[in-house]
Amino acid sequence: MSIKIGTYTFSGKLFLAPMAGITDLPYRQICRHYGAAHTVSEMLSSDSTLQKSRKTQQRAINLDEPEPRATQLVGTEADVMAKAARLNETNGANIIDINMGCPAKKVCNKAAGSALMRDTKRVQEILSAVVAAVQIPVTLKIRSGWAQNQRNALEIAKIAEESGITSLAIHGRTRNQAYTGYAEYETIRQIKHSISIPVIANGDVCNAADAQFILDYTSADALMLGRITQGQPWIFKQINDNLETGLSPQTIDPNEKIETLLWHIDAIHRHYGTDQGVRIARKHIGWYLFRLIGQKQTLLQLLKKEIFTISQPDEQLSVLEKHLRKLLMTRELD
Ligand SMILES: Cc1cc2nc3c(=O)[nH]c(=O)nc-3n(C[C@H](O)[C@H](O)[C@H](O)COP(=O)(O)O)c2cc1C
Repeated sequence: MSIKIGTYTFSGKLFLAPMAGITDLPYRQICRHYGAAHTVSEMLSSDSTLQKSRKTQQRAINLDEPEPRATQLVGTEADVMAKAARLNETNGANIIDINMGCPAKKVCNKAAGSALMRDTKRVQEILSAVVAAVQIPVTLKIRSGWAQNQRNALEIAKIAEESGITSLAIHGRTRNQAYTGYAEYETIRQIKHSISIPVIANGDVCNAADAQFILDYTSADALMLGRITQGQPWIFKQINDNLETGLSPQTIDPNEKIETLLWHIDAIHRHYGTDQGVRIARKHIGWYLFRLIGQKQTLLQLLKKEIFTISQPDEQLSVLEKHLRKLLMTRELD
């Protein structure tokens, strides 16, 4: 069964999880290429004074992206969030996603992100205000709660449904867990059986077996993949193929991995410009190299050391390509 959000029907069950500083335009493009059925922008502050900053512009959706373009907002005040939602709708967003899952201190100290889950009255006010402010679907992303003994995701889920939220993504960890321990899916299962809007399960989906297990266990309508996609966007294709055919995930041709990596790094250079692009590309290069030669720690460290000192985009690409082609010839790529 395909998942619907508002009038949008998604062809697959694997969504890309929003990750600040990571899921920029090039990242969303490469993940969609490999079969991510839906992507969301990096979170934007609802503070209108920041709307014109370079960072906000770089993080925003791009009108060339296919519909539905989803913008994620983070904030504290219902009226400010509503105003930001309206502005983003005017600027081309087709879906507004509200972030109540981020555990970051700088977000939580302002009672935004997952801190909001402790204040159900405010949750209700924000959700209702944002839904009323726009014509487009509003979705919500939450955690299982604030702490182990404060897991109120089910209560929030019901508030969300009553407030007109169109779909709900749940990361099966509490705020206090941050990214430690393991995600749990029991809360997600209970929510799925208690509300009627689509539910998207999130947390520690690492391979096709996890994906199938979590879909079966929770009956969620879709899954969101985050960290596992870093340096291997092709994982969307591998898991999708497995979900569709039941066969073991196909290996991806190493030549294709190299082409993908080079395309991605070049797209980062173009998106951010020379200086910033080269710097931002480094973390992605690190992740790709880890996926490609992670078993060979010494080699990995040597390559990173050489490539991370380069400050020119063309050189960054050519040195990377030279090493990868050499590793391909000596059959050292995974
Ligand atoms: C570096 C990083 C940045 C993140 N930024 C956001 C964000 O901006 N908005 C959000 O809702 N979640 C954010 N998350 C949480 C992810 O969307 C996701 O819920 C979490 O990583 C668990 O999924 P995973 O186990 O598949 O990585 C972020 C996670 C990471 C690791």
